[in-house]
Amino acid sequence: MTADWVIVTAPTDRGDAPSRVLTGAIRRLRDSRPEVEFRVAVLGGSETTITEALDDAAAAGAQSVLLVSGQTLGDAKQDSWIARIVGHWLRTRPAGASTPEVRVAPLLTEHDGFADLLEHAIEHGGKPARTTTAPIVSPAWEQVPAFTRHVLVCRGPRCSVEGARETAAALSRALDERGLDDDDVLTTVTGCLFPCALAPVVAVYPDGAWYRRVRPEQVDRLVDEHLIDGRPVPEWIARDLRAAGLAAAPSPE
Ligand code: FES
Repeated sequence: MTADWVIVTAPTDRGDAPSRVLTGAIRRLRDSRPEVEFRVAVLGGSETTITEALDDAAAAGAQSVLLVSGQTLGDAKQDSWIARIVGHWLRTRPAGASTPEVRVAPLLTEHDGFADLLEHAIEHGGKPARTTTAPIVSPAWEQVPAFTRHVLVCRGPRCSVEGARETAAALSRALDERGLDDDDVLTTVTGCLFPCALAPVVAVYPDGAWYRRVRPEQVDRLVDEHLIDGRPVPEWIARDLRAAGLAAAPSPE
């Protein structure tokens, strides 16, 4: 069976963006299969998510979509997440919406050609490792930034499905609009923070305030009241670690 959309998946785009790394391979495939639409999508991170790529395929009227893991080595946890995400996407399609059949390709390591890839690497012989590479420490990295608050925005698989990308973008825009940068509020995109059923999850430290289901339209208020005025928004908090005595109390002025 030939799919009319192929989505090549990667765990995350932390590090090199998979869409850039796979550019050459995707271009070659587009040349040899011009009838197929190719996309790269991540399980969690800032690039197009698997859910978004599936939405695009459905909107384009695709009849069949093949998901191919771009990872060379299998990862049972990742496979399980991809299966859940696809299942969730299929379950939550609007009634009557055009929905393609979605199939999952076997791992690349299951193909006989994988041994050829290893053989190619062995024959190449590799490049000598050097001792002249950049060091793993730098004096610049000894400074702990003096930000007031640290905001953790979960971009794990579940939060990504539930719209964390839009929440993270709204937060970044709201901070920019108010002239707040990393010296004021440090925002870090993270992997799964654990309470996935509360996705998208945002945690603010040192207050120890964990917010549940943070939608983009809530972000302005969260920034103004909590990050600027220092007043957490109680009705959106899933767990307040400071109130529970599990986070440090504020220092006396
Ligand atoms: S994916 Fe966000 S808490 Fe698990």
